[in-house]
Amino acid sequence: MINQQLAGLFPPDESGIPADYRIEPIHQREYLLNGEMRTWNGPVSEVYSPICLPDAEGNLQRKLVGSFPVTGPKQALEALEAAVAAYDNGRGEWPTMSVAGRISCMETFVGKMLEQKKLVVNLIMWEIGKNLADATKEFDRTIKYIYDTIDTLKTMDRNSSRFRIEEGIIGQIRRSPLGVVLAMGPFNYPLNETYTTLIPSILMGNTILFKTPKHGSLLHYPLLEAFRSSFPKGVVNSMYGRGADVIPPVMQSGKVNVLTLIGSSRVADQLQRQHPKLNRLRSIMSLDAKNAAVILPDADLDVAVSECLLGTLSFNGQRCTAIKIIWVHRSVADEFLRRFGPAVSKLKPGMPWEPGTQITPLPEPTKPDYLAECIQDAQANGAAIINEGGGEVAESLFKPAVVYPVKEGMKLYREEQFGPIIPVVAFDDEEEFIHYLITDDHGMQASIFGTDTNAIAKLIDPLVNLVSRVNINAQCQRGPDTFPFTGRKDSAEGTLSVEDALRSFSIRSAVATKDTDANKDILNEIVGEHKSTFLSTNFIF
Ligand code: G3H
Repeated sequence: MINQQLAGLFPPDESGIPADYRIEPIHQREYLLNGEMRTWNGPVSEVYSPICLPDAEGNLQRKLVGSFPVTGPKQALEALEAAVAAYDNGRGEWPTMSVAGRISCMETFVGKMLEQKKLVVNLIMWEIGKNLADATKEFDRTIKYIYDTIDTLKTMDRNSSRFRIEEGIIGQIRRSPLGVVLAMGPFNYPLNETYTTLIPSILMGNTILFKTPKHGSLLHYPLLEAFRSSFPKGVVNSMYGRGADVIPPVMQSGKVNVLTLIGSSRVADQLQRQHPKLNRLRSIMSLDAKNAAVILPDADLDVAVSECLLGTLSFNGQRCTAIKIIWVHRSVADEFLRRFGPAVSKLKPGMPWEPGTQITPLPEPTKPDYLAECIQDAQANGAAIINEGGGEVAESLFKPAVVYPVKEGMKLYREEQFGPIIPVVAFDDEEEFIHYLITDDHGMQASIFGTDTNAIAKLIDPLVNLVSRVNINAQCQRGPDTFPFTGRKDSAEGTLSVEDALRSFSIRSAVATKDTDANKDILNEIVGEHKSTFLSTNFIF
């Protein structure tokens, strides 16, 4: 049933939207292919914001933000061919360009990207409902990621700008590109997570096809021209359309060398299987997660409450790194819930542009029904919502619900809810928690809350072998972006971070010769007369 108080948080009409954040629908009719903005006259997909306005009858309707092309398999294969041609089996202008040359193109791109900041941030708010502070942070974090990646690449290049002499062999070892990269980003960090794979792929000399997510697609449009004018033709190609139509022919061609996806393990499996030569495909993926927090009997509950609030509900819990289940020792469960429940209910729901808003409209139209279903399932099995207002809904606005006691057999125990529900489990023995992690399909991160160093240490050792990051008295999170971001089981394949991503999207190649005078003369002449880009001692300052 629609909650009228929540419904009243949507703007009553256009005048209720602050002038700075109003948006005229953007109808994208072009896409980037082979260095050109191609005009599109075919079918389009309309983009409806999770932000609603009442219609004449007073019913909340999602606001139209614009539309984008639904291109088909033909355009997808054209994009693939453009990327293949630009790579040209490693002989293209881009893969053979010096690292300094590639960095210079990327710097041009960042300058142009910065010019689009206001529009992109506004589109992040409108398309996925992320609040203004977090949308701005997403943009700024992406810019910082690009600059950090450039700096790290310079360091890597400097370290490889020299010869090694070992066991009578002289060699130079550098990282080389892999080929054509198919990149797909998620809706929850549509800019940041897409770019944390796209940018290192491009910088390492690969050529790219990138498919925008269903929610969070339009915000890439203002950046297509920046890509077009900053890189040689065919290096960056956009792909629109339904994944089920456009991805299979591209994968089945066998011409994709790297698949990078931030999404579900189910989709990842389907996509990988379509490649005819799996051994030739490298996959870099961040997938499902059900990060768990464990609250030990002696935990500082103030810290546990504030970190669990951030961990479970930043961006309404729609983060792969969100804490998606809390295990609390039975001796402190009541006290934890007595503090946590009201803190959750106090989070401010509202429109993304309103200062201090913490709970915002959800972009996936089916999500509120799914969340309600999870709650009903838990209730039918003996759990209850323990916070005031939890589970109240008005179209896309959903008030976070703390559900307790959650047990094996309930959807919330195993499914990744990816939204504002916090399942809480009571336990008596830490072994129950460890057993949960062992039997879980996921293995991204966990958080331990406690003060007893013996108890914390006893958990750290098994946990580091079950997940990829153990946070102590802190929420789960990806940052800092220089830390490895990965997971076990169904949670990831490969590792991302500023440096790891550069390595993931490249392979080491070596040029080697026997240490003889004749060979040294050859090397000296090639290097001295700058005859090769790879075999070179040029130093990037
Ligand atoms: O959705 C997954 C994001 O990479 C999480 O990043 O932990 O910084 O919010 P974050």
